[in-house]
Amino acid sequence: MRLYLDTADLGRIRDLSRLGVLDGVTTNPAIVADAEKSYRNAVEDVAEVVDGPVFAQVIAADADEMVREARGYQEWAADVVAKIPATREGFEALSRLRTEGIPAGTTVVFSVEQAVLAAKNDATFVAPYVGRLDDAGEDGVGTVRRMQEIYDTYGFETELLAASIRNTTQAVALYEAGVDAVTMSPEVLEAHIPHPETDEGVAGFEAAWGDRGSPLDERGDSS
Ligand code: E4P
Repeated sequence: MRLYLDTADLGRIRDLSRLGVLDGVTTNPAIVADAEKSYRNAVEDVAEVVDGPVFAQVIAADADEMVREARGYQEWAADVVAKIPATREGFEALSRLRTEGIPAGTTVVFSVEQAVLAAKNDATFVAPYVGRLDDAGEDGVGTVRRMQEIYDTYGFETELLAASIRNTTQAVALYEAGVDAVTMSPEVLEAHIPHPETDEGVAGFEAAWGDRGSPLDERGDSS
């Protein structure tokens, strides 16, 4: 299972890369706007600090311009994957980009139907928006499960990348569904770490060990 970080914040990427679980970074126009940088600088800077692909979303609404943008993104760093919205123009652009062998996939996905069109185009990935589906009163994780079943049935290679993840409950339900990949904010990733029982357990061991210092500095048995 691949885990991507949903941010362009270099400090957070560097910090969380130290956990050894990141496989890349996803961005979108809202995330880059927050970074107050040009899209190019944001992607180039992220590519320097992350070990793995950087996903960059096209801004244009028409297929010709989407294709031009996605081709241009390939110049920005060695491993850039273009994110193409699941619109009519988007699927046309995706088809042309995949025919050229450019890494590109479908984002802003809300339906199984869109996920099938993406896979039929050999999309590199498809990104269903789990949190926003739930916001709209739909079953985000359930929709991903249905996509997964169809992809398994037909042997589609497209990576099912669950996005718009709001909390660890959604993340765990997606892991249980066996999703290929997830992308989450630094906050949701960090929320995977703490557990009160772990803190209590560690405190108990520290108390039991007392002030004996590092086991590496201990003298031999006193007995
Ligand atoms: C990822 O690729 C998406 O752009 C992102 O997860 C969307 O998340 P949001 O619904 O919190 O904006």
